[in-house]
Amino acid sequence: MPLDPNDNYTNSALRIGDVDPYPQRAVGEFIGTVVSNEWVNDEYMHVVLKVHPHALRAYAGQMFHLLCPSPDGAEVWMRRPMSVYRVDKDAGHVEFLYKCEGRGTRGMATLQPGDDFNIAGPLGHGFTLEPAWRNIVVLGRGVGLATLAPLSQLAAENNVGVTAILSARNPGVVMSRELFEGLGAKTITVLDSDGSSAVENVEKILEGLIADKKADAFFTCGSNRLLKLMQRLGKKHNIPGQVAMEQIMVCGFGACYVCMRTFEVDGKRVLRRVCRDGPVFDMREAVGW
Ligand SMILES: Cc1cc2nc3c(=O)[nH]c(=O)nc-3n(C[C@H](O)[C@H](O)[C@H](O)COP(=O)(O)OP(=O)(O)OC[C@H]3O[C@@H](n4cnc5c(N)ncnc54)[C@H](O)[C@@H]3O)c2cc1C
Ligand code: FES
Repeated sequence: MPLDPNDNYTNSALRIGDVDPYPQRAVGEFIGTVVSNEWVNDEYMHVVLKVHPHALRAYAGQMFHLLCPSPDGAEVWMRRPMSVYRVDKDAGHVEFLYKCEGRGTRGMATLQPGDDFNIAGPLGHGFTLEPAWRNIVVLGRGVGLATLAPLSQLAAENNVGVTAILSARNPGVVMSRELFEGLGAKTITVLDSDGSSAVENVEKILEGLIADKKADAFFTCGSNRLLKLMQRLGKKHNIPGQVAMEQIMVCGFGACYVCMRTFEVDGKRVLRRVCRDGPVFDMREAVGW
């Protein structure tokens, strides 16, 4: 029977149980089913999706581009980029931790168990671990912790020890501690509310970890001042590092050049696309913002 030409487009997203016509492709469009979507504190929600197995190839630091529902009936233009928070291969789940702030994420907050949710990905280059690294330090703030959290999974799979320094405004918005600790990471919480998140204090903690040989590599996301701190200490002690960058995106796969940022490579300024060349980059080359 001849196909309706529109069949090639309108039904291209894979649902759970669909036969995958292009198993070799890296990226796909998927319609997942919402398993749960719950508040974790006053600002952040955690959504769990059951997805086609192809989507479970996502690894730490990669992202999906989400087709968010409308919070108010009017159109939500453009997909929204979101880091993978957790991949549970046994359950067939992909999870996101998100800050509910604009129209897209407020639309996501309306999702109920059983609803469809369209996600495209996994996109970009995520975190990598060198075989020589036995202990890493992860330093994140705010929603950056959602991006860094799956590193604990990657590190556990590779027998790498993790110290995670979680920075937050107050104890009510500290996130991902359970996920890090559940996978064997040691966590240190630093807060604005008691002053412990001050750069000088975080620097002391990092210097202590370096002295204890717990810092073969640095990882960060979510704060310019923490990025600058890790860059400075990385240079001083010759410690390599990676940073997950955020930038407003449109296409998410390298075509539109909306997400360009400046990097410094061998003393020269170069422009790179965060979606395609990143979102994870060599920390030494990041210029910050
Ligand atoms: C690689 C990557 C990974 C991300 N991972 C997460 C995550 O795990 N959890 C999470 O909560 N958020 C994450 N973000 C940020 C998320 O994409 C934005 O918060 C989201 O697009 C906001 O959409 P909105 O419609 O709710 O808000 P909008 O109304 O579109 O915007 C609300 C605010 O968010 C800012 N914003 C919009 N788009 C982006 C963007 N792409 N990057 C940064 N700021 C933006 C706007 O400038 C505005 O201040 C990530 C962004 C990138 C680029
Ligand atoms: S969002 Fe289009 S090139 Fe990055």
